[in-house]
Amino acid sequence: MKAVRLLEVRTSVRQQDSISSQLSSLFVDAWCLHHPDVQHIVRDVGVNPPAMPDDFWVKANYTLPENRTQEMIDYLAPSDALIDEFLGADYIVLAVPMYNLSVPANFKAYIDNIVRIGCTFAFNREAFTLSGLATGKKSLLITPSAATPTPETDFCEPLCYICFSLLSHIKG
Ligand SMILES: Cc1cc2nc3c(=O)[nH]c(=O)nc-3n(C[C@H](O)[C@H](O)[C@H](O)COP(=O)(O)O)c2cc1C
Repeated sequence: MKAVRLLEVRTSVRQQDSISSQLSSLFVDAWCLHHPDVQHIVRDVGVNPPAMPDDFWVKANYTLPENRTQEMIDYLAPSDALIDEFLGADYIVLAVPMYNLSVPANFKAYIDNIVRIGCTFAFNREAFTLSGLATGKKSLLITPSAATPTPETDFCEPLCYICFSLLSHIKG
């Protein structure tokens, strides 16, 4: 039987003193007490950020898999690995502090790596609609900030919510 997987995505650039990572750990430790067989995977993109997509990455991504060169395949491999990890998770905890009203840039790089056509969402060219391919997951967002965000100044929570709920829920 496949183990239940919990993916904890940490995004603070801080190491020892990160508030979001500490909050995330508290939650995960308590949650794992009730789910002793869970496989807990930590993806720390604050400390080890994925590469930002560049020109060749975008070309490779929009080339059909069967037409990709070996160089393209190799270039997309780190993104493929992040997507496999993401799609393999049943539960996702996102620890995302507000940085300058939005998400940390490292986390944006992670989003850009895992939100990929044909992998985590599908695009219907006739109907011009999107559908999420990452269904069946439960996720929790932990997003500390120094000040209390207002809807006018909070681009952090909506961005996380829209990206991750769309991957699982968007329909034609
Ligand atoms: C680069 C940077 C930018 C920040 N920008 C904001 C901000 O715009 N609004 C806010 O309320 N707090 C802001 N903060 C404070 C953090 O959101 C807050 O301290 C959070 O708990 C940090 O989480 P961390 O320790 O996991 O990195 C910022 C902190 C940093 C380091």
